[in-house]
Amino acid sequence: MFSKKIQEAKVGYTYDDFLLSPNSSFVEAKSVSTKVSLGNDINLNIPIVSAAMDTVTESELAIAIAREGGIGVIHRNITLEEQVEEVKKVKMAEELTIRDVVTITPDSSIENVQNIMDNESISGLPVMEGDAIVGIISKRDVSPFLKKGGEKTVKEIMTSDVVTIEEPITSEEALDIAYENKVERLPVLRDGKLVGIVTIKDILNHSQYPNATRDKNGKYLVAAATGPFDLDRAMALDEAGADIISVDCAHAHNMNVVKFAETMKDNIDADLCVGNIATAEAAEDLISRGVDGLKVGIGPGSMCTTRIVAGVGVPQLTAISDVADIASENNIPVIADGGLRYSGDIAKAIGAGADAVMLGNLLAGSYESPGDVVVMNGKKYKQYRGMGSMGAMTGGFGGGADRYFQEIKTNMKHSKLVPEGVEGAVPYKGTVNEIVFQLVGGLKASMGYCGAKDISEMKEKAEFVRITSSGIKESHPHDLLITNESPNYPFLD
Ligand code: XMP
Repeated sequence: MFSKKIQEAKVGYTYDDFLLSPNSSFVEAKSVSTKVSLGNDINLNIPIVSAAMDTVTESELAIAIAREGGIGVIHRNITLEEQVEEVKKVKMAEELTIRDVVTITPDSSIENVQNIMDNESISGLPVMEGDAIVGIISKRDVSPFLKKGGEKTVKEIMTSDVVTIEEPITSEEALDIAYENKVERLPVLRDGKLVGIVTIKDILNHSQYPNATRDKNGKYLVAAATGPFDLDRAMALDEAGADIISVDCAHAHNMNVVKFAETMKDNIDADLCVGNIATAEAAEDLISRGVDGLKVGIGPGSMCTTRIVAGVGVPQLTAISDVADIASENNIPVIADGGLRYSGDIAKAIGAGADAVMLGNLLAGSYESPGDVVVMNGKKYKQYRGMGSMGAMTGGFGGGADRYFQEIKTNMKHSKLVPEGVEGAVPYKGTVNEIVFQLVGGLKASMGYCGAKDISEMKEKAEFVRITSSGIKESHPHDLLITNESPNYPFLD
C-alpha cells in the first residue's frame, strides 16, 4: 500500500530538533578529557576531523589540526602524486628524529668536520666505524682546536662515551636522558644500528604542541581520501604513511562500494574508514566487510544539495544514532560528517553516538585552509565549495565527480554533470587554533552540563530533550541587536 509508506514513514531528526538535557554533575568543563580513539593507534586528543574537501584540507590545515589534537583528511581532487606529497608533508612536518644523519669517521681531520658543519648547518656529528657508533663530535669540541690551528683528528677530541637512545622514542624520554647526561643531542638506534639523531632544540620545539596527535614515531597523524574503487590511490597513500585511508563516496551503501571495501582493506596497512552512510543496514553491511571506521552523513553538509537534487538523505542526528547502534556493538568508531554549525552540535553528535565529527564549513574559513582571503563589502571571506559542485567536479582531478558516481575526466563539460553541491564563501575566522579553541571550549562546557568526564561518558550519559520551533527561537539570542560579534556565534546564518 502506497499510503502506508507515507503513514508509517519514520521521523528523522537533526541537531536543531534537540537540546542536551542538563544532568546533575560533579564534572567541571576545565577537567574533562576529550580524548578519543578512532582505530588502531589512532588516538586523538580532540574529536575533530577536517573534511576531505579541496577548500578545506591540504597539508597546511592537516598539520594545524593535528597540532590541536585532531586529524585532517587530505582531499583527493588532485593527482595521486600530489596527494602523496601532501601526506608526506604532514608526516615530515615536525619529525623528532632527523633521519638523514651526516656522520664522520674517526680519522677525519677537524677541518673536515668544521667544513661539513658549516656546509650542512649542523652542530654535531656521530662518529662511525663501519656500522658502529664510536663517538660524537660537536662544534664546541672542534672550535678551540681550530683556533690553535692544530692538526688533530676526530678520534683525538671526540666524546667516546656516547649516550644513545633506542627507538621508539617519546619526547619526554629523550629529554630526560639528554638532561640526565647533560648532552645536547642523542644518536637514535634501532636494533643497535644508527637510524637518526635527536637534539634538545628539536625536542623543545616539539613540546610546543603538547596536545598534538602523533603516531608511534612522533609524526603527526594524517588521513587521506580515496575514491570508492581507486585501489592504486589507496595503496600509494598507505605507502606514503597515511594513518587512515578514507573512502570518500556520496553513497557507500552502494553494494559495489561495500564489496570493494574488502579489497581495499586487504591491500593496505592503514585503517580503512568508509563513508558516507546514513542507516543501520549500511553499517551492518560495511562492518561485515571488515572496515575500521564509518562516516555518517547523506546531505547534511552546508553546501550540499543532494537532498534537494536527489530528494535523498536522513536528518543527521537520526542517521548518527542509527549507525552508532550497530557500530558500538562492534566497537567501530563513527565519524559524524557534515551539518555542524556550532560547538553545541559537536556535543549533540557525540551524545547521539558519534566518536568524532568531521568539519567542512567550520574550518573552511581558517587561515590554514587552501585559497586566499577575499574581501567583499569590507568583510573577509574564504572560498568554500562542495566536492559535488560544478567547480570542484570540473576544476580539479575529478575527485568530486566519482564521489557522485559520475565519469572522471579533467576539463569536463559542465552540461554532462549533475551537481550535488554549491560553491560559495564563508567568513574568514582566523587560525585553526583560534577556531578549535572555541569549538572544544563549547564541547567541554557541554560535557560539564551533562556530567560527562570523557567522551565515552558523554556518549552514555547525554540525554536529549526534543524541542519545537519556539524552542529553537528561544535558544538563539533574541530581542536585541547584537553589537559585538562573538567568536563562537557568527552573524552569518
Ligand atoms: P559541512 O556542513 O561541514 O559539511 O560544510 C562537510 C561535508 O559535506 C560533504 N560534502 C558534500 N555533500 N554535496 C554533498 O551532498 C557536495 O558537493 C559535498 N561536498 C562535501 C562531505 O561529506 C563533507 O565532509
